[in-house]
Amino acid sequence: MTDTATRPTPAASTYSDGNFARVAEELTAFDLQVIGQIPETLDGRYVRNGANPVVPTDPATSHWFTGTGMVHGVRLRGGRAEWYRNRWVRGDDVVEALGEPAVPGPRRSVDFSPNTSVIGFAGTTWALVEAGALPTELGYELDTTCRNDFFGTLRTGFTAHPKLDPDTGELHAVCYAWQDLMDHVEYVVIGADGSVRKTVDVPLPGMSMIHDMSLTQNYAVIYDLPVTVDLDLVLSGKTSFPFRWDPDYGARVGLLPRDGTAAEIVWCDVGLCYVFHPLNAYEDDDGRVVIDLCRYDKMFDRDLLGPAGDSIPTLDRWTIDPATRRVDEERVDERSHEFPQVRADRTARRHRFGYTVGLSGGLVPGANYKFDYDTGTATSHDHGPGRGSGEAVFVADPAGSAEDDGWLMSFVYDETTDGSELVILDARDLSRAPVARVLLPQRVPYGFHGSWVPDAAVPAPTAS
Ligand SMILES: [Fe+2]
Repeated sequence: MTDTATRPTPAASTYSDGNFARVAEELTAFDLQVIGQIPETLDGRYVRNGANPVVPTDPATSHWFTGTGMVHGVRLRGGRAEWYRNRWVRGDDVVEALGEPAVPGPRRSVDFSPNTSVIGFAGTTWALVEAGALPTELGYELDTTCRNDFFGTLRTGFTAHPKLDPDTGELHAVCYAWQDLMDHVEYVVIGADGSVRKTVDVPLPGMSMIHDMSLTQNYAVIYDLPVTVDLDLVLSGKTSFPFRWDPDYGARVGLLPRDGTAAEIVWCDVGLCYVFHPLNAYEDDDGRVVIDLCRYDKMFDRDLLGPAGDSIPTLDRWTIDPATRRVDEERVDERSHEFPQVRADRTARRHRFGYTVGLSGGLVPGANYKFDYDTGTATSHDHGPGRGSGEAVFVADPAGSAEDDGWLMSFVYDETTDGSELVILDARDLSRAPVARVLLPQRVPYGFHGSWVPDAAVPAPTAS
């Protein structure tokens, strides 16, 4: 692959124009029009977080990742789409801009509106972000209720990408907080009751940006890669985001025994790269750790405002032998893929299927992909000209037993109509027409991560 091919160059306005532009209103709409048939067993909410500055920002210096969080949600019940809502996540900057009272709850030295993911856990809904800001609780209808440091048990900040262990119901997370820690990160395990039960300090040679982690049956996987904090970036006014490419830092993956200490971490060098998102990880019959992930050659080198301008994310597999510390790196697909997903109950276990979104122009979402790792084949769903899918969440069909018995759920933007839909695909066969398309009352800007939160996990209030 040539250097040119790996370096799409976005214009300075890439992250503020088109469907990256913010929406300026919070809307509520009921009884949404549906094309097709929503599966009647879907009873809950599809929710998705993303950056949506509460006030317009300077596109020349504003980093996409620092925009105010906004959650968009659609409630499904009985084959109907009952409502759509979008709400800013009330950080202190949001309530100041909107003239509202401060949201209750604790604060850390870094406080901003969580913009990266939204999950259901411990009976409530959480907006999450990395780098030091606290999780923020949302009500069923997406109103912000409070900051919550897991009921006083979280030492510093959290992450947008905890991993739910399907065996225990516990959340595992690798957390950094660039104003509070600087020389280490924390491996945190949160019990199903929502309280931290374990924190392990993991010393690092610097403050690398650790966006995600992986879990296997025996290890928490730590991605210590060469994007590190550079406060001069912010002080110079070049960008609102204090991280950049730092090849001298090196690149390594740490295998931390889940019941072990930081001294027991097996560190394994990998080629210089950056990884936002692993698809899944597991241990094979020989005790090797297999990780499927989206890998970038570089990140935040030339493009200091977002992830698109330095390289294209390919779908790769890393196989790590803990005994020899050797990492075999293999390219699974040369095309551009992001937002990797796996069926939730395959987390930390061997998976057959993985799902991604194809990107064009470095960043613009397109088709949904399904990879069959047993056969080495890929299938896709193209939404048509000018239409692209954000991250697609796999929702299991309770009537099925196969790994791909379920649906893919995502927001799809149509540049022709400048509108968005919630699209539900049959994960068993992506070539089929969508099972259902829910037409939304406004476009949903390209964003980050979402979840299907069934009412069985986070119940609707009685009056809702
Ligand atoms: Fe992410």
